[in-house]
Amino acid sequence: MYGNDFGTPDEPGRPGLLDQVADAERELRAAADRSVESEGGERYFEALVAADQKIEPRDWMPDGYRKTLIRQMAQHAHSEIIGMQPEANWITRAPTLKRKAILLAKVQDEAGHGLYLYAGAETLGVTRDSLYELLLAGKQKYSSIFNYPTLTWADVGAIGWLVDGAAIVNQVPLCRCSYGPYARAMIRICKEESFHQRQGYEILYTLAHGTPAQKAMAQDAVDRWWYPSLAMFGPPDTDSTHSEQSMAWKIKRFSNDDLRQRFVDMCVPQAQVLGLTIPDPELRWNAERGYHDYTHPDYGELMTVIKGNGPCNRQRMAHRRQAHEDGAWVREAAAAYAAKRREPVNA
Ligand SMILES: [Fe+2]
Ligand SMILES: [Fe+2]
Repeated sequence: MYGNDFGTPDEPGRPGLLDQVADAERELRAAADRSVESEGGERYFEALVAADQKIEPRDWMPDGYRKTLIRQMAQHAHSEIIGMQPEANWITRAPTLKRKAILLAKVQDEAGHGLYLYAGAETLGVTRDSLYELLLAGKQKYSSIFNYPTLTWADVGAIGWLVDGAAIVNQVPLCRCSYGPYARAMIRICKEESFHQRQGYEILYTLAHGTPAQKAMAQDAVDRWWYPSLAMFGPPDTDSTHSEQSMAWKIKRFSNDDLRQRFVDMCVPQAQVLGLTIPDPELRWNAERGYHDYTHPDYGELMTVIKGNGPCNRQRMAHRRQAHEDGAWVREAAAAYAAKRREPVNA
């Protein structure tokens, strides 16, 4: 069971995360066949959201809805792109050819996720170039998690298990997001993230069942990645600024703390199978609540990283800027080729 058992011990009948993605996919197909009758405008928008149908790019939508989605989808896309860096750091040093091929495919998937999401954001009336500009100018953020360094090969395992695992828990509800292009992109992304989570879990499982030094390396990686992964769900509900309106618009379906709890409950049995310890002495089953009690991450540290002062923020942005400059000739060549193809043949 390489991490694909997402059920929690307290809810044996609860469907796994991939089943939820499949359900969302069916709902999306059904929603394409609209049953809400209206003339358009605000009331139509509200009726569509209330009926759990999808808002499409051609539909009227409130300015705030559009802005929220642009911000969220752009930050999501930026995270996919910046998130390639910590793992790409290990492609040339993967321990076997097979591991290298798998990691290469995984990092390439993340580039694809960035691409779908930028394309999705463009349906809201922004250009991909303008979003790159905002990222490079530091005006739009990416997930704080990618500002931590990957010190050993086991970090690639811990990222897959914990970081991609947290990403799935966060993103499965987005398959039901009210904005059609975002929901559709998330279906495919979640299926791929599930593979990422399993590959990380399998790396850790192999190390945890190897030599004592390998097991220690796996444990050290989990020790370092656990709390930053919990912080991926964002500030606690009491401090979360955008949540309420996003919930009303059905962009967001669950609160940060609900998703964080779901993630903790998912990881506990998986850590037992790995034979690794989650570095939280307060972690225990609370029969009364029906969930695990756990120690929250240091939200002060999260804010420091978000503000640009994490261990690798400067390195990540410098690398991205350099890659953007190095790729300028490719963009120019592609644009020139596209322009040439548009010219009439007999002109
Ligand atoms: Fe991804
Ligand atoms: Fe991923």
